[in-house]
Amino acid sequence: MSSNYLTFNSNQPLTHLDLLAMKQNGEKIACLTAYDASFSALIDATGIEVILVGDSLGMVVQGHATTLPVKIDDMVYHTRCVTKTCKRALVIADLPFMTYVTPEAAAQNAATLIQAGGAQMVKLEGAKIEIIQFLVEQGISVCGHLGLLPQFIHQLGGYKVQGKIAEAAEKLLVDALEIQNAGATMLILECVPADLARQITEKLTIPVIGIGAGDGCDGQVLVVYDMLGISTGKRPRFSKNFLSDTNSIESALKNYFDAIKKGEFPTAAHSF
Ligand code: KIV
Repeated sequence: MSSNYLTFNSNQPLTHLDLLAMKQNGEKIACLTAYDASFSALIDATGIEVILVGDSLGMVVQGHATTLPVKIDDMVYHTRCVTKTCKRALVIADLPFMTYVTPEAAAQNAATLIQAGGAQMVKLEGAKIEIIQFLVEQGISVCGHLGLLPQFIHQLGGYKVQGKIAEAAEKLLVDALEIQNAGATMLILECVPADLARQITEKLTIPVIGIGAGDGCDGQVLVVYDMLGISTGKRPRFSKNFLSDTNSIESALKNYFDAIKKGEFPTAAHSF
């Protein structure tokens, strides 16, 4: 695989240091979810730098209404499917609901995602500073996740934009800095106003990947079935169907990759 866009134009497996260099060079990072070997191979071949085995699989693969029923064994199974065919992209796996309530439980479950699943990094929701610190001390790479937290859906009362009022925006910024200081090497921001996401991205030295967080982040992520228009239910405003104006999944993935690299996605219509 070779691409005109790459900071590191090589076939070597990417690490968080490559993503950091992309942020520093102002090159956008493309990320997409995958849950199986076939999509993983296609996404990887496109040049997309990060594959997220998200617990969104609970909704788009397993058919649940939320991500809450997803178990660690489900995550390990799907992460293993993805890493079997992914040769270059960095693979992040989600720690599902209630699998990181103590530092020891978090480390045990993260180790399973890494050892049995083959993930390079694990992602967890919220400003769980002590948990992140503990994982980092054990040598585990961690991605934070702030803004709309699907594992907190019953507390949030729905899939709503977060950080709209000044107090909440300030807390998001403080949490993001604490997550970085705890040793996380990446952060996902979900459904936050574009201006706030840009501000957080500029303040942080680690890469910030947005979903419904405007075009000011260092990169973008979408749920693969949403961007192919095959998810059931209403398409989220922040997503775009990249398959509708082309005739193959491969070209839809390529158009997604190019749109991110050129800063053509997301537009204001996909932002808050
Ligand atoms: O589970 C997931 O797919 C995610 C993304 C939506 C960021 O966390």
